[in-house]
Amino acid sequence: MNRFYFRGMNIKKTPNSRLSGFDWDNFSFGDTFTDHMVICEYENGEWKEPQLLPYGPISFTPAMMAVNYGQACFEGMKAYKDKNDDIFLFRIDKNYDRINKSSQRLGMPKIPKEIFYDGLYTLVDVDRGWVPYGEGLSLYLRPLIFATEEMLKARPAEKFLFAIVASPAKVYYSDPVAVKISDYYSRAASGGVGFAKAAGNYAASFLPTYLAQEEGYDQIIWTDDATHEKIEESGTMNVFVRIHDTLFTPPISDRILDGVTRDSFITLAKRRGIAVREENIYVNDLLKAYEGGTLQEIWGVGTAVVANSFKSFGYKDKRYPLPVLSEADSYASLLKKELVDIQTNLSEDAFGWRYLVEKKC
Ligand code: COI
Repeated sequence: MNRFYFRGMNIKKTPNSRLSGFDWDNFSFGDTFTDHMVICEYENGEWKEPQLLPYGPISFTPAMMAVNYGQACFEGMKAYKDKNDDIFLFRIDKNYDRINKSSQRLGMPKIPKEIFYDGLYTLVDVDRGWVPYGEGLSLYLRPLIFATEEMLKARPAEKFLFAIVASPAKVYYSDPVAVKISDYYSRAASGGVGFAKAAGNYAASFLPTYLAQEEGYDQIIWTDDATHEKIEESGTMNVFVRIHDTLFTPPISDRILDGVTRDSFITLAKRRGIAVREENIYVNDLLKAYEGGTLQEIWGVGTAVVANSFKSFGYKDKRYPLPVLSEADSYASLLKKELVDIQTNLSEDAFGWRYLVEKKC
């Protein structure tokens, strides 16, 4: 288990906590924010003192570069509470590396490790009452970096803000989803920003997803931009396909997000002796496996959803219902349980993935 003690930032707590008035039975993912947030400004080539402040609006003008040119990226992380009220973060080293890869690709400065780690620990520590305990519950953490300079010249900004907000979270999708394999739209292009958690990647996914929803699907399976023959991701998730008891997932590339949940699933599957192949998944091979009866399950993984099974997929004008597996027979369910047990301190942390957030503030 990992520990981290530094709590060096300026802390200004709110005198008006909203926690006691919060209705834990009536909220949905991403619609409620905790009492505090972390912010840290970047100007004149350096990051200033980070601060923990009461959560609330910050004012900017419409000339801010993030909204004009999309210089913005984020991370998705979670804090989990166990039955003793101990709180844990999960694999934050991976999120730290990734936010810097994202921000560098978008022409933004790296965030120092002390600011990223201390920001997370301080926010979770001060708002520990907002971390729910129970099945499927967690505190979703959203670190982000965006360009705050007022400037319309199309060049990298010189002023940025790093911020972290936190939001109590429950199950993202409660049921298996129907997905459409895209034969036109793609999420990312070679040489582009698909590997980054660039805010614009998500904006670009909204219209195709809406169009798929108009056809009765929940989500899209993105295919590669050059040929649309290879499966890449699904919605905001990495994707796993189980054929003949082997797991396939597309290899990491500049078009695929290096998902923390993806990596954790691969590690846990291998530990169980499940064969995992990180290789291209061709739509044609998927259809052949379906026709041949060897396609067993498909699911998406991500921090927000953990794992979400697909009940069917559509390609061109045809729909393909997938087998309904019991929890015991589904690799998605099995691996999800193993992962959540590690995250919530219900099982041994064999890989050193948990970070205890000790009470300091
Ligand atoms: C996450 O799983 O953290 C994501 O980034 C999905 C988010 C867009 C809700």
